[in-house]
Amino acid sequence: MNNFPEQVTLVEVGPRDGLQNEKHPVTTQTKIELVERLAEAGLTKIETGSFVSPKWVPQMADSGDVFAGIQRNPVVTYSALTPNHKGFELAMAAGADEVAIFGAASQSFSQKNINCSIEESLERFAPVLDAALAHGKRVRGYVSCVLGCPYEGYIAPEQVARVSKLMLDMGCYEISLGDTIGTGTPVKTRAMLDAVMTQIPASRLAVHFHDTYGQALANLTMALGCGIQVIDSAVAGLGGCPYAKGASGNVATEDVLYMLDGMGIRTGVNMDRLLDTSRFISQTLGRPPVSKAANALLAAR
Ligand code: HMG
Ligand code: MG
Repeated sequence: MNNFPEQVTLVEVGPRDGLQNEKHPVTTQTKIELVERLAEAGLTKIETGSFVSPKWVPQMADSGDVFAGIQRNPVVTYSALTPNHKGFELAMAAGADEVAIFGAASQSFSQKNINCSIEESLERFAPVLDAALAHGKRVRGYVSCVLGCPYEGYIAPEQVARVSKLMLDMGCYEISLGDTIGTGTPVKTRAMLDAVMTQIPASRLAVHFHDTYGQALANLTMALGCGIQVIDSAVAGLGGCPYAKGASGNVATEDVLYMLDGMGIRTGVNMDRLLDTSRFISQTLGRPPVSKAANALLAAR
């Protein structure tokens, strides 16, 4: 504990997790500009879209156009969510650098989100992994509901560990542990990570906190103390999952960066450029950033 890393990788999920839940349409051009600005701010891992059923998540139906429209920065990995083989093929056609499969530690959430049980989801992921590895593409694995489920409530840490290990053993290079509805607290986070880390080393894990209850930074501090070095976040605190009612945005990248900068932990991300990006997307969406650091720093400019 309190053995904080010197360096952390931020995985920016704003263009995907952030915009998948927007009620009003966001233009393809806005998404392209958002991704390009994030890269200019120094983010090297950007989840750019998802190749899911457009009937389920219409907000992501233009992901192919977003990938086609962005000016690529060679140091950036532009990734996409792919729930099945069809999604994988679309992601490859769009030129995604990396893909992510997304499972859950909760049976009910798995049914609501991807219309199948946990076991069936693993069967659907297998061909994605086979095809990705054959294409030389890396696959990230998400496990949702690691600190609670909108339908089942409590989820046992051992269940999180079990699903995470199964997905890692299938060939994922990293497992991102998602507190989908943000109900986690630091002690729960610790218990969950302790269970998962009996199966998977911290070097293969990431954390993905939604900030619904304002606990994300506290949980992140706990995760950093446990040796986690990869953090998912969304600029301006955008986000939510359409199949997790009440889930609010991801922890804001600006808040995470402010905290990490203050702890002397390197990320390679430039706060000033990030604030420009935050202001850009917030003005476009017509509401202020859901980030205390961004609001304070922008007001002080
Ligand atoms: P299904 O209805 O069981 O699938 O949905 P299906 O195989 O029977 O296909 C139904 C229709 O969808 C067919 O079209 C397919 O062609 C089409 P139709 O014949 O009716 O015209 N289809 C597709 N179209 C485009 N791309 C595809 C694709 N697959 C099938 N890849 C399915 C199953 C998984 C497709 C559906 O449930 C789905 O798309 N779910 C996605 C839900 C989603 O995107 N949720 C948000 C992301 S997860 C998240 O936010 C959590 C995370 O952030 C971590 C955390 O916070 O915890 C990652
Ligand atoms: Mg999420």
